[in-house]
Amino acid sequence: MDLRCYHGPKALQLILFMAFTCPVALAAYNIGVGIADVTGPVAEIVFMGYAKIDQKGSGLHLRTFARTFIIDDGTERFVFVSVESAMIGHDLRAEVLQRLRKTFGNLYNDQNVMISATHTHSSPGGYNLYMLFDLTTFGYMKQSFNALATGITLSIERAHNAVVPGKIYIGHGEILDANINRSPLAYMNNPQSERDKYQYNVDKIMTQLQFIAADDRPLGVLNWFAVHPTSMNNTNKLVSSDNVGYAAVLFEKQMNRNALVGKGEFVAAFASSNLGDVSPNTRGPKCEFSGDECTAQYTCPGKNEMCFASGPGKDMFDSTSIIAHKLFNESMNIWNRRDRNSELTGPISSVHRYVKMPGQKAEFYNHTTEQLEEVETCLPAMGYSFAAGTTDGPGSFSFQQGTTTSNPMWNLVRDFVAAPTNEDIKCHGAKPILLATGRMRLPYQWQPKTISTHLVMIGELVIVGVPGEFTTMSGRRMRESVSSAMQANAHIRPTVVIAGLCNTYSDYITTPEEYQIQRYEGASTIFGPHTLDVYLKQYKELAIAAVTRTKLEPGPQPPNLSKEHLISLQPPVIYDTSPWGWKFGDCVTQPEEFVLPGDIVTATFVAGHPQNNLMTGESFLTIEKLIDNRWIVIATDADWETRFYWKRISVFLGTSHAKISWAIPSDAQSGTYRIGHKGFYRYVLGGVYGYHGYTNTFQIKLQ
Ligand SMILES: *[C@@H]1O[C@H](CO)[C@@H](O)[C@H](O)[C@H]1NC(C)=O
Ligand SMILES: *[C@@H]1O[C@H](CO)[C@@H](O)[C@H](O)[C@H]1NC(C)=O
Ligand SMILES: *[C@@H]1O[C@H](CO)[C@@H](O)[C@H](O)[C@H]1NC(C)=O
Ligand SMILES: *[C@@H]1O[C@H](CO)[C@@H](O)[C@H](O)[C@H]1NC(C)=O
Repeated sequence: MDLRCYHGPKALQLILFMAFTCPVALAAYNIGVGIADVTGPVAEIVFMGYAKIDQKGSGLHLRTFARTFIIDDGTERFVFVSVESAMIGHDLRAEVLQRLRKTFGNLYNDQNVMISATHTHSSPGGYNLYMLFDLTTFGYMKQSFNALATGITLSIERAHNAVVPGKIYIGHGEILDANINRSPLAYMNNPQSERDKYQYNVDKIMTQLQFIAADDRPLGVLNWFAVHPTSMNNTNKLVSSDNVGYAAVLFEKQMNRNALVGKGEFVAAFASSNLGDVSPNTRGPKCEFSGDECTAQYTCPGKNEMCFASGPGKDMFDSTSIIAHKLFNESMNIWNRRDRNSELTGPISSVHRYVKMPGQKAEFYNHTTEQLEEVETCLPAMGYSFAAGTTDGPGSFSFQQGTTTSNPMWNLVRDFVAAPTNEDIKCHGAKPILLATGRMRLPYQWQPKTISTHLVMIGELVIVGVPGEFTTMSGRRMRESVSSAMQANAHIRPTVVIAGLCNTYSDYITTPEEYQIQRYEGASTIFGPHTLDVYLKQYKELAIAAVTRTKLEPGPQPPNLSKEHLISLQPPVIYDTSPWGWKFGDCVTQPEEFVLPGDIVTATFVAGHPQNNLMTGESFLTIEKLIDNRWIVIATDADWETRFYWKRISVFLGTSHAKISWAIPSDAQSGTYRIGHKGFYRYVLGGVYGYHGYTNTFQIKLQ
């Protein structure tokens, strides 16, 4: 070991540093970054997020990834994973930790591994295991679960193997035109005095960490900005990481130069934050056909049309791209200001505790009565407005948001499954209960009761990992509360960020005042009106434990659902065949022979079912250029410019087509190109076999 560059415990570092001269600047931490593919089955599985049964995958636009950042101060190690999925369930995280234990012993555990979902609404579901979240996929989907478990684990292993001495810089930026509040009525019910402290009804600040190796090599970037990845709406059927995912790809492409997406060394993550009531659809809600303003209840009165939000682009792809570029642009601005950003220094302190939420007590200051109330959380339940959906994705039934009275017909249906008790009804207050999920036991648990609370301090930064979707004001209260707890107990005023959808998923968390309005977010605040107050109390305890370095009890373990009988009604792929006279991988529709930058080239192939092999870490398609008589892959199915559409032609015969499109970038070089398609087919008599095929060559000619 080179003593001059020793990176062990702080005190020893300092002594050695003074005694010798390290050829490079002293690095505050050891840092590792890693990325891995988590794309699940891209065809025939319902997407998780909008809960729309007919939103089944039929192809791929952007591959989804897990991105890991390991930070080690010589004594303590912390792992942050941002994963492109709608949510992360306890069983998935437990599975990842179990796999890591096999390789690394107890190095990675539930105290120091924080897994945060970006909340994309365009990836296949069926991996949460709690019944409510797997309803739309007709139960558990092993392929979805495994793709996530394997990819997350691999990204952590890659980060582990890449650990080098380095520094972290923290910076901030502001993005004014990339998000709006989708429930402003609820927000307006927060006390005026509190709202007056803020200029906007959503957070506009991006907080960013920049990871630089001791030899000055850029390693990665990680930022938090509050926005729903719902630029792709509920009519989209191509798997996508949405606005934040594309922003990450843009950043990585710029830093990794010629590497293909997901293959470069530099890793960029645009992680989720207090996005509960925050929409990227900045044109706001409008009536579907007339373009009229919606009513205050977000309906289009007297008209049989939906009220939903869109924009800023001409269609959802354009909107995704515009929001992604805004995020990317500001992130790059912060990156380039590195010298003016401050370096993070100081020890790491990671605190985690499981909490059984129903029946927890806390205090709440009621601004109306000006009284301090003793309050309590309830058994999980979903309100009527949950079924109404949001203006980012309206629900399928005739429910309206803002419903605070119940309907006898639905009550009958509800009571048939599990009736809420008088105690439940009283506890949930303004929320008329549609689903008493806390009482539903069949076939197994519907929503979690025990959730994960997680907080880490890295020098003067605190990351609060929350198990759900905090609204704007909920997030602000949390940041304020954690910050003042630390100030009171350790005289530090940290920068606090909310890391959204971490470790377990328990829907939304509104403020008690927003809850009274019962919009979608309030109806989905499952532990009742004072869910937030209990979280504020819990995280305050974590904050104090982190600064005083007190050990907390681990709390009750959530149940291991995989032990129970999981329902899985999704039919498997039976077989694939190619039409008479054709082989798998044959190109049935060739691209045009001469094309220009800006054109869209398409080709159609005889294909097998994409569920036969997820092509993890690989690609269903390649765009190849002939360079010095060799075919070089210049784009894959993870690129923005390519799309992979899969279609069953005949279920009976087992025939299908894959259509591939490539929007030729404006800076494409002239030359000879071809498109490749790779896949697997399931043979009638058993077995799965690989195939590949190519189009004829085509020429890009510059004018
Ligand atoms: C989704 O976006 C497409 C445009 O890409 C639009 O035609 C459609 O109406 C939108 N639907 C909803 C429900 O937002
Ligand atoms: C990108 O950031 C620069 C510098 O702040 C700004 O001038 C420019 O307008 C931004 N571009 C977009 C597309 O937001
Ligand atoms: C404050 O107290 C009043 C009177 O009891 C009640 O109506 C209101 O719902 C309370 N506010 C909240 C946010 O719980
Ligand atoms: C959960 O239970 C299953 C089946 O008993 C077991 O295989 C698995 O290892 C358990 N998972 C964890 C994380 O303990």
